Amino acid sequence: MHAANRPVAPGSWPATVTRQLGRMRTQTALVDDELVQQTRATYDRVAVDYDRRSQEVAAPFEQFRARFAADVLAIRGPVADLGCGPGRDLAVLRAAGLNAVGIDLSGGMLAVARHRDVPVVQGDLREPPLQPGSLAGLWSSAALLHVPRPEVAATLTTWHGLLRLGGRLGLSTSLGGQDGWELVPYAGEGPAGGDLHRWFVHHDQKDLTALLEQAGFTITSVEQRTSHRTWSQVRAVA
Ligand SMILES: C[S@@+](CC[C@H](N)C(=O)[O-])C[C@H]1O[C@@H](n2cnc3c(N)ncnc32)[C@H](O)[C@@H]1O
Repeated sequence: MHAANRPVAPGSWPATVTRQLGRMRTQTALVDDELVQQTRATYDRVAVDYDRRSQEVAAPFEQFRARFAADVLAIRGPVADLGCGPGRDLAVLRAAGLNAVGIDLSGGMLAVARHRDVPVVQGDLREPPLQPGSLAGLWSSAALLHVPRPEVAATLTTWHGLLRLGGRLGLSTSLGGQDGWELVPYAGEGPAGGDLHRWFVHHDQKDLTALLEQAGFTITSVEQRTSHRTWSQVRAVA
């Protein structure tokens, strides 16, 4: 191997190379955060419309949510709904007897949730403001799909760390394999206007399963259902 192509141990990198790599990492993180912040800004503007349109859920989703609630009721303890949006699931989980709190980045979504009289906190689901090992249950519906792909593995590892041993995960996220901006289909109807985008990351089932297992989860069930998207509904144990 030519000396110039030989891998160099990080410890022996010249300071200039280390600085360069540091800057590249920072720039990548900034781009990822920009995707998240623009998506949040869209949710701030469509929150009321989103809430109105997301009240009805399909029977398979309802069953999935009920099974997650039963999983956690059996072991008892605090639950977080990460990316809770306007709080539809949070209200149902609390009515089922769970001590659940919602976390979301969008102030607009949280304002709608507060009308439901459910406890919510503004925070980022990639680093939720929760103590490690503090949760018996972690629920997240249609929110991991907004985490930029380079950050998904770390996010799932963080989620695993928030759960106590034997804690339960209920995750619903979209399948498809591609990433990109998508126009909010109903935004043109409201005062928000017709040019609002969200960044989506649609997962491949095999890759998602592998990421969950790498994060430390033991998967107990995987179901797929199709509505306007195809969804993966995963129950898992930490
Ligand atoms: C499609 S909505 C889903 C809302 C609700 N869970 C549901 O099933 O209807 C996605 C939600 O994820 C939130 N979200 C996106 N990225 C987030 C992040 N990094 N941290 C916290 N919330 C985030 C959005 O603000 C939005 O409320």
